[in-house]
Amino acid sequence: MTQTIAITGSAGYIGSNLTDELLKRDYTVIGIDNLSMGLRANFEHLADNPRFTFHDADVRDAARLALACRGADAIIHLAAYKIPRYGGAIDTVQVNAKGAEHVLEIARAHGTRVLLASTSDVYGKNPKLPFNEDGDSVIGPSTVRRWSYAVSKLYTEHLGLAYMEAHKVPVTILRFFGSYGPREHRSWWGGPQSIFIERFLKREPIEIHGDGRQTRSFTYISDTVAGIVAALESKRATGEVFNIGSNEEIAILDLAHLIYRLMDGKGEPPLTIVPYAQLGKYEDVQRRIPDLSKSKELLGFAARWKLEDGLLPTIAWHRAVAARESQKATAAC
Ligand SMILES: NC(=O)c1ccc[n+]([C@@H]2O[C@H](COP(=O)([O-])OP(=O)(O)OC[C@H]3O[C@@H](n4cnc5c(N)ncnc54)[C@H](O)[C@@H]3O)[C@@H](O)[C@H]2O)c1
Repeated sequence: MTQTIAITGSAGYIGSNLTDELLKRDYTVIGIDNLSMGLRANFEHLADNPRFTFHDADVRDAARLALACRGADAIIHLAAYKIPRYGGAIDTVQVNAKGAEHVLEIARAHGTRVLLASTSDVYGKNPKLPFNEDGDSVIGPSTVRRWSYAVSKLYTEHLGLAYMEAHKVPVTILRFFGSYGPREHRSWWGGPQSIFIERFLKREPIEIHGDGRQTRSFTYISDTVAGIVAALESKRATGEVFNIGSNEEIAILDLAHLIYRLMDGKGEPPLTIVPYAQLGKYEDVQRRIPDLSKSKELLGFAARWKLEDGLLPTIAWHRAVAARESQKATAAC
């Protein structure tokens, strides 16, 4: 019998790519999303697939979520709000806390397996690199709202592990490191690579926050999805926390130059340096690299995509979406 997997946040970037992969692997998928940040366009191609159903539901609504998850063998909980960079933190705190609470209650009631999406941000400012799953979370003050995201995900992790201890709910925690690829959100919400590509397409300058020497380890979407599937299908994943990412480290300034070159930009990329002080009360993480030995050993997971190889299809996707939009705008004139 095929397994039924409920995915919260299924219309978003990782959720929709994961949905496609699970359907390819003969799973039945229940997609759940309130479409606040996700798009119908990300799952319209599945309209005739008998193994896919979609529920327009909010994870803060416990009753609707429970109805949507009926019959699921596992719930992959991705629905979340990210770092509140320009807006308030209320959605980040409430959606992430309530969503995790409701998913875990459903799992407790029905004995459902749960995979919880967490983030590299939970390591915060830990200077000990690479980040190991047992390493410390070094979080800044609560008056800096960017930490609300890390704290909401740490709460999710603690709650999941507590449900496992108290109620025997089989829980796995996946800490994703900067994922990029087709269907990423085309704003800062989708990560620096996304906004850099969009700005260069429009021939607009990009903003570099700080001096640009802060580093990240970006992960192509096929690798992120492969890590989730490996955890879903592993018998050794229950009760464990895994880093899912790539350890190819790059400074943000170098990322900007690389993307500009891959987009055939001439000369120097147009950049505006924005000192952190101009961003209000903000703190950044200076270096971010995962230790991937545990996910390799227990899940057999290893990222395959080099950054440059993954950026090419990502840029091609951004170009294709922009071209479709411009055709539509011309047709409407
Ligand atoms: N993309 C990354 O690089 C990255 C890195 C670390 C962690 N994560 C985590 O992975 C998960 C997926 O991230 P993503 O990049 O696909 O984000 P995304 O914003 O593209 O997808 C999240 C989806 O959740 C939905 N959602 C938000 N609030 C909801 C609510 N109240 N009820 C129902 N649906 C709701 C949104 O509409 C969206 O479709 C998130 O939990 C995120 O914190 C992502």
